[in-house]
Amino acid sequence: MNLLLNPNPPLQGEISVPGDKSLSHRTVILSALAEGNSTIHGFLTGKDCLATVEAMCHLGVKIDFLDPETLLVHGVGLHGLQAPKQSIDCGNSGTSMRLLAGILAAQPFTSVLKGDDSLQQRPMERIVLPLQQMGARIVGREVSGRIFSPLEIHGNTSLSAIDYEMPIASAQVKSCLLLAGLYAKGQTSLKEKGASRDHTERLLQSFGVALSIAQNHIILTSPTTLKAQEIYIPGDISSAAFFIAGAAMVPGSHIILRQVGVNPRRIGIISILKLMGADITIHGPRLICGEPIADIEIKGTKLRGIDVPSEMVVSAIDEFPIIFIAASCASGTTHIRGIEELRYKETDRIEVMAKGLKILGVSLEVFPDGILINGSSLNEGTVVSHGDHRVAMAFAMASLVAKGSIIIRDCDNIATSFPNFCELANQLGMSIHSIED
Ligand code: S3P
Repeated sequence: MNLLLNPNPPLQGEISVPGDKSLSHRTVILSALAEGNSTIHGFLTGKDCLATVEAMCHLGVKIDFLDPETLLVHGVGLHGLQAPKQSIDCGNSGTSMRLLAGILAAQPFTSVLKGDDSLQQRPMERIVLPLQQMGARIVGREVSGRIFSPLEIHGNTSLSAIDYEMPIASAQVKSCLLLAGLYAKGQTSLKEKGASRDHTERLLQSFGVALSIAQNHIILTSPTTLKAQEIYIPGDISSAAFFIAGAAMVPGSHIILRQVGVNPRRIGIISILKLMGADITIHGPRLICGEPIADIEIKGTKLRGIDVPSEMVVSAIDEFPIIFIAASCASGTTHIRGIEELRYKETDRIEVMAKGLKILGVSLEVFPDGILINGSSLNEGTVVSHGDHRVAMAFAMASLVAKGSIIIRDCDNIATSFPNFCELANQLGMSIHSIED
C-alpha cells in the first residue's frame, strides 16, 4: 500500500489511540502462563501482537476474542504449554521473538521461531548468548559472528538462574531473561545499563511474582506461580507520539489524546518536544493496573532545534523517526547522538529516515550513532518506508509541514502497530489516501 498525503490545516480534535503494543504482547504471554482465566481489555489487534496471540495458541493456549479488543486467555500455568506442531512465525515482531524465546528455552520440547525478512536480519545474539549461559540450547543462523533467526530452541527444563549485566539497554532482552528466570533454579539477577521500559516488571508483580527492584537492578526468585488477572491496557504512547509531535510542530493545532500510557520510562517524546518548546499538558495522571495513564493536550507552536540529552534516548527509543521530522521543521539545528540502537530496529532507522528527509530537501549529517538535522522547510516528494511502520507514519506527519503533497511507498506494515492510523489522522483533519502503485 502507498499513501498520498495532501497539505492540510493544523490538527484539531480529540481521539483515543489503540492499546499499547508492549503491554499487549506481555499481557497475553503472562496470562497464558498464569493459573486461571485472564481478561485483557484494550488489547492492540495490530499484526505484531496477533503474532504473539497465534504463537500462544500454537503452544496449546486457548484464547477467545470477546470483541476485537477484549481477550479471554485460558491460562495453562507455567508448566502447561504444549509442543507446537509447526514453526512459530513472529512476522515483523522483534518483541514476539525475543520474549517467546525466553519461555521456550525452558520447555520440555523443541520449537522454531521464524520471522519476515526484516526480523530475520535483526540481531538475536543479545538474547541467545545469555539464554545459553542459563543452559538453553539454541541454534540460530550465524553470519560473521552474529546470530539471526530462525532460532531452533531445544528447551531445557533445568535452566540455571543468571547473574547478568546487560550490555545494552533493552527491554526485550530484560523481559526475555525475566521470563526464562521464571523457570530457572535460583535467583535471576539483572543489571540494566539504562532505564528501559519496565512493563514486564510491573506486570509480573501484578500477576503475583515477587521481584526486588533497586534502581536498575532486578532480582527474581523462582519457583513461582502466576495468578490470573483482569487487565486494562492504556493507549500506546508510541502511537500517540505521531499526533503529539504532529500537533506540537504546527502552530494553530490543538488536540487532546485520551487515556494514553505515560509510564515514566516511555515519555521521552514529551520531554524532548518540551525542550524544543512544545506546549504539552498532561491531565489527570492516574494508575490503572499498575501503569500510569493520562489525557495529553497539545497546542501547536514553532519548535526550535536542540541537542537531545543522552539520558532521554532510552525512553524515546521508538520515537526518533517522528523526532527527526519535528527537528526538520524546527528553527535551528538538532543534534542527536547515542542512538545506534536505531540501526537494529525494523529497518536501520537512521539511514532510512535520512534518505527520505534528503528527498524532501532537508540538510543533515549522519553519524554511526546519530544524526544532525538542520531545520528548514520540507518540499513535496516521494519517499519509501522500506516496510517500517514508524518510518511510514513519521513521513505521513511530515505532510503537515511540507510545501506540497507527499507520497509514501510500502506502508502495509503500519498495521503491525497502528491499524487505524490513517482513519484517526483524517479525523484530526489530515488528508491521507491510499493509492495504487
Ligand atoms: C520493546 C522494546 C524496545 C522497542 C520495541 C518494543 C518492548 O526494543 O524498540 O519497539 O516491547 O520490549 P529494545 O528492547 O530492542 O530496545
